[in-house]
Amino acid sequence: MEFKNLLWQLDENILFITINRPDKLNALNGDTLVEIKEAFLTAKNITTLKGIIITGAGEKAFVAGADIAEFQGLDANQAKALAQRGHDIFFLIEQMPIPVIAVVNGFALGGGCELSMACHLRIATSNAKFGQPEVNLGIIAGYGGTQRLIQYIGKAKALELHLTADMIDAQTALNLGLLNYIENDKSAAIDKAKSIINKIATKGPIAIAKVIACTNAFYTDGVDGFATEVNAFSDIFSSSDVLEGVSAFLEKRKPAFTGK
Ligand code: COA
Repeated sequence: MEFKNLLWQLDENILFITINRPDKLNALNGDTLVEIKEAFLTAKNITTLKGIIITGAGEKAFVAGADIAEFQGLDANQAKALAQRGHDIFFLIEQMPIPVIAVVNGFALGGGCELSMACHLRIATSNAKFGQPEVNLGIIAGYGGTQRLIQYIGKAKALELHLTADMIDAQTALNLGLLNYIENDKSAAIDKAKSIINKIATKGPIAIAKVIACTNAFYTDGVDGFATEVNAFSDIFSSSDVLEGVSAFLEKRKPAFTGK
């Protein structure tokens, strides 16, 4: 697919989405957000896809935030629409039925940190820096950052990061629970992400989608996560994958899941 601010590359059934505005440190302007939405909606319909890796062009930044230039002259209603659009797109990413991994190379600030947190896993390069610096501008996170940072690192540290606007390095982010792995450079981080996606692709695809949905249910207001799990468990038993998985174990062979 062709985009203005994204690169879309399919390689061995893994989709690479690269945010491609390196001269603006890949800041998320409106056009880029709309393209991200289009990319994920398209990806959702590609049945052969094993997973998605999202990263930023260049070595300096994953995404240095929402595009600050677009905040000029916004009124309250426009700001609400902007935040809502971001929320909808980041929920779309979080609810993808296949693994989405952020490869965080350099700055992941504001909307960049928020984008990485909407992904299922985060692998950073050793030079990555995370932060929610919005209060420096007299604003707050608007793409889910006040909620998702707590989910990963707890209230004390999440409040500290939002209130002080401090940046943390990759090692601190790993220690706090924000990251899954740190790799030396982008190419090693991409290799790690690919190997995780390829490993997940050997499992039952229905089960993988249900794990993601049940995990999201824990964090969804008004949704009983335990009830979601019971229903998901029972849904799986109406698929042929469950027969294949169990038979393969008993016959001491590798399962050949079909996702049906
Ligand atoms: N929105 C719009 N443009 C941005 C941006 C953002 N969030 N972050 C960086 N840019 C632009 C800069 O304006 C600059 O553009 P220019 O060359 O046309 O002047 C370019 O990207 C390079 O950034 P620069 O600030 O010169 O790089 P730096 O290495 O000196 O600093 C940062 C890097 C990340 C510390 C700094 O760019 C920054 O603080 N960015 C804003 C982070 C932020 O507040 N994010 C949350 C937004 S809600």
